[in-house]
Amino acid sequence: MDVALGIDIGGTGMKAAPVDVATGRLLGERFRIPTPQPSTPEAMANVVRDLDRHFTDITGGSGPVGVAFPAVVRAGVVHSAANIDSSWMGADAASAFSEAVGRPVVVVNDADAAGIAEMSFGAGRGRSGLVITLTLGTGIGSGMFMDGVLVPNTEFGHLEFRGESVERYAAASAMEREELDWEDWADRVGEFLDMVDRLFSPDMVILGGGVSREPERWFHRIDTRFETVIAAMANHAGVVGAAMAAV
Ligand code: BGC
Repeated sequence: MDVALGIDIGGTGMKAAPVDVATGRLLGERFRIPTPQPSTPEAMANVVRDLDRHFTDITGGSGPVGVAFPAVVRAGVVHSAANIDSSWMGADAASAFSEAVGRPVVVVNDADAAGIAEMSFGAGRGRSGLVITLTLGTGIGSGMFMDGVLVPNTEFGHLEFRGESVERYAAASAMEREELDWEDWADRVGEFLDMVDRLFSPDMVILGGGVSREPERWFHRIDTRFETVIAAMANHAGVVGAAMAAV
């Protein structure tokens, strides 16, 4: 069995689990540590070390490690810092995390990782054409797949809408910050999806993130010209996709 440790770093929590990468199954209960504040490279690398150590019974402290990171990541280096400490800009995340766990770590964008998992084991399984996966959380992350092949580091959450990035307007965090009710928030997601439609004409959009666990509160408000579905992997997609990126 091919096992890798998947670590999903978000704006509020850092989660990990060992994953059977052939099936997408978690091989241990997911373990979560709150994202340190400020979320500096050093503080986050220490949490990555703790998450790795938590699973040594299962991994033996060896084997591949993949990290899903909430920023643009090219060849392990971070190129944006919207919801993490600005000291990440230009930092080599792959080296920092590899040093923390004492073996090589692969780092990819978090929404790309979640998308890879959804396309392999979730709502996008076997789907061709242009499929866009979106994660609605602290920010908005995007994955874009043409016939199952990822175009990495798309940043649809940073498209401009009403003078600010659309994630300020329509991420799940906007609901709390602006005390919106679910339906008003869902209508904002609908406006965002209209923009995605105008720009990309997708065949299918998959909506994920924590809010995908309670679609009954909001999904009935979403009405698009293309097929829109709720992600199937709840909030495991990032962990599973991170593990897959590592092998
Ligand atoms: C970041 C993306 C990330 C998304 C979800 C955005 O603010 O720019 O890289 O995928 O948040 O975490």
